[in-house]
Amino acid sequence: MMIPLCRVDELNDPGSRGFALQRGGEPVEIFLVRRGALVRGYVNHCPHRGMPLEWQPDQFLDEAGERIVCATHGALFALEDGRCLGGPCRGAGLEPIPLSVEDGVIHVEGPDWEPAP
Ligand code: FES
Repeated sequence: MMIPLCRVDELNDPGSRGFALQRGGEPVEIFLVRRGALVRGYVNHCPHRGMPLEWQPDQFLDEAGERIVCATHGALFALEDGRCLGGPCRGAGLEPIPLSVEDGVIHVEGPDWEPAP
């Protein structure tokens, strides 16, 4: 299934935004990050303690917009692949979401994903 999320140009540059979806019938929070032409999506679940990452709604990035930050204990993650760059989950990483961009619209791709009811 291909689920449209939003347009690339609806995200700030740099910027981020959270979405609620379902996978296999279970609710899953995900988020998009954008920096220039780079757009990535990850499950909103810190590998340290399983907390949601954002410090305010839709705010997943550090002040410079260069890294994803976990609000709970400050773990830092790379925008491009979600690997942990520092903090208590070094060696772990965020789960990437398969995305495609068509006509400027970002979609989640994959048989397991469904829109939230
Ligand atoms: S829950 Fe994210 S750093 Fe601890």
